[in-house]
Amino acid sequence: MKLHIVNEIGSSDYRVAITPEVAQKLIGAGHNVLFEPGAGSRAGFPDSDYLEVGCELSGNLDSSEVDVIFSTNPLNAGITEHLKSGTIVISPQEPFSQSENIKTFAARGITAFALDLVPRITRAQYMDILSSQANLAGYKAIVEAAHLLNRALPLMMTTAGTIPAAKVLVIGAGVAGLQAIATARRLGAIVSAFDVRVSAKEQVESLGAKFIEVNSPEKTDGVYAKEMTDDYKKLQKERLLSVLPHQDIIITTAQIPGKRAPVILEGDMVDSIKRGAVLIDLASKSGGNCALTEHGKIIEKDGALIVSFDNILNLIPHDSSRLFSKNIFAFCELLTQKMKDNPDISAIDDEIIRATLLTYNGKIVNNQIER
Ligand code: NAI
Repeated sequence: MKLHIVNEIGSSDYRVAITPEVAQKLIGAGHNVLFEPGAGSRAGFPDSDYLEVGCELSGNLDSSEVDVIFSTNPLNAGITEHLKSGTIVISPQEPFSQSENIKTFAARGITAFALDLVPRITRAQYMDILSSQANLAGYKAIVEAAHLLNRALPLMMTTAGTIPAAKVLVIGAGVAGLQAIATARRLGAIVSAFDVRVSAKEQVESLGAKFIEVNSPEKTDGVYAKEMTDDYKKLQKERLLSVLPHQDIIITTAQIPGKRAPVILEGDMVDSIKRGAVLIDLASKSGGNCALTEHGKIIEKDGALIVSFDNILNLIPHDSSRLFSKNIFAFCELLTQKMKDNPDISAIDDEIIRATLLTYNGKIVNNQIER
């Protein structure tokens, strides 16, 4: 098959969906791999690395040439309109906000997979782009916050005096939050964390951080959080207000899949954050956990910084591409194996394929998507 790697320049994403290492494996499996010039250069993979492993440079995308197309973002309409019917698209699709794209895929007979719908089951961990990318985002959030903070993180006892350890609060202890906790601990900070899911407590404590508990009978658990009641939110606010004024770094990561991110730090809570503190809102793309966050901007509020990156993975594009690419490879291995037994993709009886397949043979075939 002819596989195609998109240059993400239009989406201002520095990542690339397939690295030369993975391209080599795909070529070894008998495929031809075409790449758009400069596709990996912003992630530290120059065109020469792709050519060296046997990839071919594609010119303008020729629809009749491509069987499978890989991207780190939902494809833009300019690319989609050139694809032939039957082309397989493998990328994140943001299916709850990009419904027009999905309708276009169906109308054009494209077979589209949404890597952001890979189910959270053990077998699918190798393909889970949300986890691999969130992990690096959590790490990078602490490194960037440490860089912006006007003081040191670890306790330092020097002849000139003692510097106390900085305090870090992580709100949302999922994949990104847990990595932020681990990174902040490695840098010597005193870390606490809050999450609405009960099982997060044990995970937070196993990393040596303190779990901030809300004294409420209302509980939620499982892989994803649910929206909490107003009574719970009131108690949560009181509890967070008791710790916020002491924090040097605050990292927020809270998300509810398919919905706007919960606003956890309301305007009056931001007032309690101390001068010099740095808040990084990793949930800004889906609305932000802080009421004052402006996506892609750094704003100052009474001496504290409220930071949102347009795409924090652009600050670590090499490793985020490497992990993303390995996730895609694992997905392709599964798909290829299943297609050998059943060329009709929509009839493949596999939880991962069923959950990620959006469109097939001119129809939207995913139950999670409105038709
Ligand atoms: P996410 O990105 O959807 O949310 C991040 C965190 O925000 C979650 O821990 C969530 O509970 C928390 N949150 C939501 N609303 C909140 C609120 N109002 N206040 C405070 N926190 C709030 O979740 P993520 O990070 O993608 O995954 C969540 C969990 O899923 C992980 O911790 C892990 O246990 C599980 N998981 C399981 C996998 C598997 O079994 N294959 C793979 C990846 C994750």
